[in-house]
Amino acid sequence: MVESTGNIESLLQEDRVFPPTEQFKSQANISDPKIYEEALKDPEAFWAKFAEELDWFKKWDKVLEWDPPYAKWFTGGKINVSYNCIDRHLSSARRNKAALIWEGEPGDRQVYTYWDLYREVCRFANGLKSLGVEKGDRVTIYLPMIPELPIAMLACARIGAPHSVVFGGFSAESIRDRVNDSQSKIIITADGGYRRGGIIELKQNVDESLDGSPSIEKVVVVRRTGHADDRMVEGRDVWWHDLVADQPLTCEPEPMDSEDMLYLLYTSGTTGKPKGIVHTTGGYLVGTYATTKWIFDLKEEDVYWCTADIGWVTGHSYIVYGPLANGATTVMYEGSPDYPDRDRFWAIIAKYGITILYTAPTAIRTFMRWGEEYPQRHNLSSLRLLGTVGEPINPEAWVWYWQNIGGGNCPVVDTWWQTETGMILISPLPGITTLKPGSATRPFPGIEAEILDDAGNPVGPGAGGYLTIKKPWPAMLRNLYGDPDRYKEHYWSRYPGIYFTADGAKVDEDGNYWLLGRVDDVINVSAHRISTMEVESALVDNPKVAEAACIGKSHEIKGQAIVGFVTLKDNVVGTDEIIAELKQHVVTKIGAMARPDDIYFAAELPKTRSGKIMRRLLRDVAEGRALGDTTTLADPAVVEALKEQYGEEE
Ligand code: WTA
Repeated sequence: MVESTGNIESLLQEDRVFPPTEQFKSQANISDPKIYEEALKDPEAFWAKFAEELDWFKKWDKVLEWDPPYAKWFTGGKINVSYNCIDRHLSSARRNKAALIWEGEPGDRQVYTYWDLYREVCRFANGLKSLGVEKGDRVTIYLPMIPELPIAMLACARIGAPHSVVFGGFSAESIRDRVNDSQSKIIITADGGYRRGGIIELKQNVDESLDGSPSIEKVVVVRRTGHADDRMVEGRDVWWHDLVADQPLTCEPEPMDSEDMLYLLYTSGTTGKPKGIVHTTGGYLVGTYATTKWIFDLKEEDVYWCTADIGWVTGHSYIVYGPLANGATTVMYEGSPDYPDRDRFWAIIAKYGITILYTAPTAIRTFMRWGEEYPQRHNLSSLRLLGTVGEPINPEAWVWYWQNIGGGNCPVVDTWWQTETGMILISPLPGITTLKPGSATRPFPGIEAEILDDAGNPVGPGAGGYLTIKKPWPAMLRNLYGDPDRYKEHYWSRYPGIYFTADGAKVDEDGNYWLLGRVDDVINVSAHRISTMEVESALVDNPKVAEAACIGKSHEIKGQAIVGFVTLKDNVVGTDEIIAELKQHVVTKIGAMARPDDIYFAAELPKTRSGKIMRRLLRDVAEGRALGDTTTLADPAVVEALKEQYGEEE
């Protein structure tokens, strides 16, 4: 059964449409709708054309080898991602173009031209080599949004050492799990990062995590805040600036096989254990290059800003690899949108003359709540294209964004994709597609999506089902790190040979896709993917807790919020202090983004006769809905009791 996570039914009644303007169409990178047919007829030729635009040390023999569920793209080809993101641009005037414009939260800023980036990436790549990092070694990166983050990623790519970036909001325990799974030799961090006027203690978290991470040999530390110099551990910790000080300014890029691993990125799955998504080199670069070029309509003179954190896949593909492969100017901002005031984003847009803005619906809903006075303080007329990602966007937020940020003349591309897909798979092409607020519109050319029912039959227009992808695509995940069984089981077992997205969706009469949210136990909190199982294991880890069940409840700003239902051990009495303690326990175990909004104590959790917790009913309780089918409950009184208690506390 497909359950929607939000107020989705109303979406399908949306009838406002926004065809591309003549003016946008006439300048767009792609404006001929025939491309959809062409790509469908021969997807391999379609992708190969983009691959031709990149620089290969050796051209591929075959575009695709597909032995479900294993795909290999551009086999026999030799290529280096850092070479394509940097060196490729050095022989033209792009050499002196801003590759990266960075602004720190306190207001400091730095601009790196492509040549600057080349030098810094080479120096750091040599630094990594001097620490013994070799091709194939994994490197964990736990940094704030500072230039050293993309520099470190590109340096890893240059020498063929797969990186594993861990979002700076994760706890020491989460770092430890990821380091141990990837068996990284090196971890790169900073003394701290600025956020909302305070300092995030990154180095301290790394120090704590290292108790149980025997694979780590060296810790490279960027001095960002300068407040923790006494934390350096002799023999283990190295300052970034010392490491690069005497390094040569050039470093030969390693010719990588198309299918060599580029990076690992951990994401929440339906169990408590995060999955290491494996992305490889050639196909990933082709996929992110192509989608960036067409969906964001990227031009030489654009100033492109994706507000995501590089700790998530959006930052990997659409701050770093896609834009730089295109020779673009990509903007990075370290801090929070409300520091020092709620107009920070708009100030940045005006200051740098940003032309393309890519952000998340949860941010847009927050800006809506703050009000129009903040964007109105600044001249946003440089903008020409807007994008969203991470969760379904409600039409109200779409139209607000289009009107108040885009001034009513920027197309809004609502892009659907996942950590696993590596690249955007469903999105408008702004020079072709008629936009409908709330719909991600159509699969990208060359992508074949289908909505299936439980039995694997395609469902007709208007009916809900599971979103699947029928054919392989270049940037798709290749495996789960060290866990091929889980890879097969999770993505390829429900419909053999077809990729299961775990998202529900509908298609309307015009062929537009409407995303309905996750159909598994993954929830989407402020566009961050969190597994309810992970939060549950964090809760039961507390000695006072006997049992816990978590659900995602619709939330006006965040999309979904975490609600925990907890049964305490016999001798423990539930109090507000315990609620606070449990929330903090989740933060310590996972990170602040997983903090439950509410925790409720329950004498018992509603279970089926076979002992399965019925989260669906808990969702009904939390959202104040009439209870769904309760006939399979072992004891219907349990949920009635919960409902009463919940109603009182609301
Ligand atoms: C959701 C983020 C609706 C979806 C790139 C997916 C979306 C999950 C959209 C992946 C969108 C992402 N409309 N839902 N435009 N974009 N999602 O791995 O549920 O962090 O499965 O990748 O976010 O989240 P992830």
